[in-house]
Amino acid sequence: MIEQLEELRARALEELGRIEDLARIEEWRVSYLGKKSELNQILRGLGTLAPSDRRAVGQIANDVKSVLEGESTARRVQIEKMLRQAEIARERVDVTLPGRPTRLGQWHPLTAVTREIVSAFRAMGYDIVEGPEVEWETYNFELLNIPAEHPARDVWDTFYVQAPDGLPGGKMLLRTHTSPMQVRVMQNRKPPLRVVVPGRAYRYEATDATHESEFYQIEGLAVDEHLTFADLKGTLTAFAHAIFGPERRTRFRVDFFPFVEPGAEMAIDCHVCRGAGCRLCKNSGWIEIMGAGMVHPRVLEGVGYDSSQYSGFAFGMGPERVAMLKYGIDDIRLFKTNDLRFLRQFAL
Ligand code: PHE
Repeated sequence: MIEQLEELRARALEELGRIEDLARIEEWRVSYLGKKSELNQILRGLGTLAPSDRRAVGQIANDVKSVLEGESTARRVQIEKMLRQAEIARERVDVTLPGRPTRLGQWHPLTAVTREIVSAFRAMGYDIVEGPEVEWETYNFELLNIPAEHPARDVWDTFYVQAPDGLPGGKMLLRTHTSPMQVRVMQNRKPPLRVVVPGRAYRYEATDATHESEFYQIEGLAVDEHLTFADLKGTLTAFAHAIFGPERRTRFRVDFFPFVEPGAEMAIDCHVCRGAGCRLCKNSGWIEIMGAGMVHPRVLEGVGYDSSQYSGFAFGMGPERVAMLKYGIDDIRLFKTNDLRFLRQFAL
């Protein structure tokens, strides 16, 4: 019987050593330590033995029982540990892997160009101001020396809007240019003054590759004593150098705007062919950038300035056009389609 117990212990331990999951441990426990186990039967049968054998066999049987219990608990703990380690290995993440990149936003090309233009003027001491897009007719036209019925109004096809009840008389419109801000700024400040005015303007016209009914302008105005056309040329040439490169040449030719005298159109030598003639400059070697001129004495007098004491110059440009020239964009409508394939090309 002692041999049977020893054989039983050896067999149980050998089997236990090969078990690798918790369910099989439980099965093992039932078969070796359970009520119907061989060991239990031996323990229960102790009473039938002769008293002299009972002690020795009982002692060994109890030893076997406690060894099996102890070993099975140890094995269970060992298996649980193995399972935990396997799980940890499975769930391991490599924290040294690079993260998924977050896509940063960027300026719209028009915003980027506007900021560039505006900061070129800021460097020359200009303030940045903004004004209303819905404007009185008198600011958009009369005070800019464009009387009603004057043919010059035909240049600016206008969206008129219904003025709200209770406001003083006069017609309201969507400003056709940012020039009304020349008047508003002069009314609100005293010379010397230097401002640039970025903002939207509207014209009642058909849309095509170079025209939109809603577009941007950047207006500029400087008023002081003794300002001359030389100041205008110097300022706008410095601007052209900042935006289109320090080697650019500028050309000023006579043009007509009712609110300036003399009036001019500024061009730069083509930055693509350097004046030789190409598709961009339509073989002329020059690219027109903006309208400009010396503030008309009537405009100065209209805001109560003494035109014999003060003089000034003004200019107005379209940032869409500047962006199109600078980045070779061939259709103004691209700025508004919100097509990310277009927009992402300008990591400005
Ligand atoms: N306001 C003019 C336009 O829209 C441009 C301009 C501004 C011309 C200032 C001269 C001086 O065409």
